[in-house]
Amino acid sequence: MGRSATIEGLRKFRKTLLRERDPWHDTSRRFRIRRFAGPECFLEHLDGVRVAHLTDLHVGRVTPMEVQYDAVSMTNAGKPDVVVISGDFVCHSQVYLHDLTDVISQIDAPVFASLGNHDHWAGAEPVRKALIRGGAEVLDNANTTITIGHQRLQVVGLDDAYTGHADRREALKGLRRDLPVIGISHIAEEADALWEAGVPIVFSGHTHAGQVTVARLHELSVGKLAGHKYIHGLYGSRGAQDPKGAVYVGAGVGAAVVPLRLGERAKREVAFFELGTQPGAFDEHHQEQDAHQGRVPSLKTKERRAEAVRRKHERRERKNGDGNGAGDGAGFNS
Ligand SMILES: [Fe+2]
Repeated sequence: MGRSATIEGLRKFRKTLLRERDPWHDTSRRFRIRRFAGPECFLEHLDGVRVAHLTDLHVGRVTPMEVQYDAVSMTNAGKPDVVVISGDFVCHSQVYLHDLTDVISQIDAPVFASLGNHDHWAGAEPVRKALIRGGAEVLDNANTTITIGHQRLQVVGLDDAYTGHADRREALKGLRRDLPVIGISHIAEEADALWEAGVPIVFSGHTHAGQVTVARLHELSVGKLAGHKYIHGLYGSRGAQDPKGAVYVGAGVGAAVVPLRLGERAKREVAFFELGTQPGAFDEHHQEQDAHQGRVPSLKTKERRAEAVRRKHERRERKNGDGNGAGDGAGFNS
């Protein structure tokens, strides 16, 4: 090996070391793949149906595109039958919608999506169109039935509850009780009512697991301060006992403001659920956790959130006339 080749080799090695030490530069090594069984009630209906769950992609300048494509390749490697994505596809603008379309189009399995608060802040309709262009089906207060081999599975998607767009009655319209069903909702607390309506497993996001989970800081930030009952991971019950349902809150892929993620639970995540498999049949990352106390948002809070969507929409229209304007990277994080 010549001297210049050696120097070049050392340079590459140093660069790798620096990347490893830099918490702002994420690679696939910062992802966690978690695997769980589905609810017991699916055992009589389904056999070997694998669902991949992604959430909070936040395609934009805060999250490197290599992270997005890492998430896609890990999802594809798991060979899911169906992929569900529970909202927050963008950050604050429509600048990266073509990237979002490309990311979604790289997913091999059928994709079902519902929107999050950031999608409504940035403009729900253009986000919806970008997802559809990428091949996803957007279930905003809607449901559909898919066929996997000889098995049928219903998917119900609730639009974002944070900004006041969730309409449970509309979402559940026509749902069959004799077929298995899974749910998607950006806000996990909506699962409580979906369980009552016969949806035994709901996939959610929004919290990013708090992004910093050392010293249980996420329980303070997401639980006590933001008032969430469900912070990260599996809650409820997959058995026949009460509550008659479970919710999985994914840690997410991206971020809208600060990319920092500290702590095991805060790692970027792709989760797989084996439907038609008995809970306990294989090692899972954790069992169902107890819900936190949580706090139901007041009417005033709900009005403030709905007003924020209107204000952002008006600001976009004022700025560009065509809704393509707000810069990416300012505002809230989850
Ligand atoms: Fe988010």
